[in-house]
Amino acid sequence: MGHHKDEDFKDCPVYTTSNGCPVMNPQASQRVGENGPLLLQDFHLIDLLAHFDRERIPERVVHAKGAGAYGEFEVTDDITDLTSADMFNKVGKKTKALARFSTVGGEKGSADSARDPRGFSVKFYTEEGNYDWVFNNTPIFFLRDPAKFPVFIHTQKRHPQTNLKDASMFWDYLSNNQESIHQVMHLFSDRGTPYSYRHMNGYSGHTYKFTKPDGTFHYVQIHLKSDQGNKTFTNDQANEMASANPDHHTQDLFEAIANGDFPSWTVYVQVMTPEQAEKFKYSIFDLTKTWSQREYPLRRFGKFTLNRNPENYFAEIEQAAFAPSHLVPGVEPSADPVLQSRLFSYPDTHRHRLGVNYQQIPANRPLHAFNPFQRDGQMAIENYGANPNYQSSFRPITYAKVVPHEAHEKWVGTATNFAFRVNDGDYEQANDLWNVLGRTEGAQKNFVHNVSVHLCAARKEVREKTYGMFDKVNKDLGEKIRTETEKNVPNSGKVESVSARL
Ligand code: HEM
Repeated sequence: MGHHKDEDFKDCPVYTTSNGCPVMNPQASQRVGENGPLLLQDFHLIDLLAHFDRERIPERVVHAKGAGAYGEFEVTDDITDLTSADMFNKVGKKTKALARFSTVGGEKGSADSARDPRGFSVKFYTEEGNYDWVFNNTPIFFLRDPAKFPVFIHTQKRHPQTNLKDASMFWDYLSNNQESIHQVMHLFSDRGTPYSYRHMNGYSGHTYKFTKPDGTFHYVQIHLKSDQGNKTFTNDQANEMASANPDHHTQDLFEAIANGDFPSWTVYVQVMTPEQAEKFKYSIFDLTKTWSQREYPLRRFGKFTLNRNPENYFAEIEQAAFAPSHLVPGVEPSADPVLQSRLFSYPDTHRHRLGVNYQQIPANRPLHAFNPFQRDGQMAIENYGANPNYQSSFRPITYAKVVPHEAHEKWVGTATNFAFRVNDGDYEQANDLWNVLGRTEGAQKNFVHNVSVHLCAARKEVREKTYGMFDKVNKDLGEKIRTETEKNVPNSGKVESVSARL
């Protein structure tokens, strides 16, 4: 596999307890006589067991199953007219990066080939701090009000009573919250089961802002297109792979890199001026919509390559902490409410999952962090010595030069609980996607099949409501799904989900 070689171990140090005391025989516990009880003084044994008892940290609440690797970003085309970000300021400039790919709904040991969106996270170690892309392999998402996220996720995971995945709960949510339809169209096409992490694209989904110190800014969306091409499993192939090799994506990525077959992505930016955004057909802060590439063409600016496997999965990948709020000068979040909530949620979950000093873990440590105002806390490794922990008059701290930042958008309004309504516009891009599928032999047929084998296990009223949702995308599509799903209900040999009978 090209990773550890035997000679790496020839200078192995002497095995010790955690406090460094050399141990002669790690397999001999101290006891009274040969058959007597153990001794509490046997620090080696107690040290070993107590540490083992604490090996697990919480898995990510979503995106728990993943794989990652190191790589680099190279600027291929100039975008200094859009952003002052240091890592993009020169063609040819390279920045080191760490990537993690993941499924969303399954637990840490679940199958890589499951039908699910895929996470596409990258951390860039730039001269001006860590800049994270916490993207998915789809350009849109299921919702546009973040208050729906936790409950939406509950419906895609396990039922609280049966602890089973539950088709009724799954489709009940989606058919009651039909702004999800565009993402559902992606998820149930074969794009919902990518062949590998190397063969899929990445998308910011959200609108971000690229900014310049002169106060100008543009709205942007970022796209990473796989240089390996897009390759997907059919539903049957994905199911077969889930049992033949549940870690297929993980293995595929590791082996490709170990064999020197480095995966890469060409990186593009889609750009809108504030004036264009005002006139855009949909809100640019609506995560369920894409921007037409005809009207807002992709501008190439970089190449992203993965070229090194981690040495230690837990240290470097499990402990990696990505957040849309890890930004650098020249990049800002937009007012997209889902993005705004994510700015809070990720560092918050990292403090829970990894601890308050999660930024000090080597995989997360920025090149030049210096913040002596943040002190102490569990696992404070870098605690900034005698540097002042306040704005001292005696030992002044250097601050960034003030960047003239003119107000960008101006927000006015009354504080209100605003509930987005689903409207006809929500089905337009879903219909466009249905037509796009029509251009690939068999893709529409697979879509109908993929929905029907899943939906057939839902209770009747949920199935009916879901047919109604697909009808609104396209009458023909709705009809096909109804016919094939109902055929599968009696014939599939599957029972309706357990909750359907509770
Ligand atoms: C992971 C929350 C929407 C992409 C996570 C995690 C949380 C979370 C709590 C676990 C992070 C960890 O433990 O390290 C949310 C909330 C959302 C939302 C509250 C909406 C309100 C999205 C969207 C995208 C996305 C729209 C993509 C555009 C990801 C990715 C990961 C992730 C890629 C895995 C990060 C990794 O590899 O460690 N999300 N998420 N999420 N989320 Fe979201």
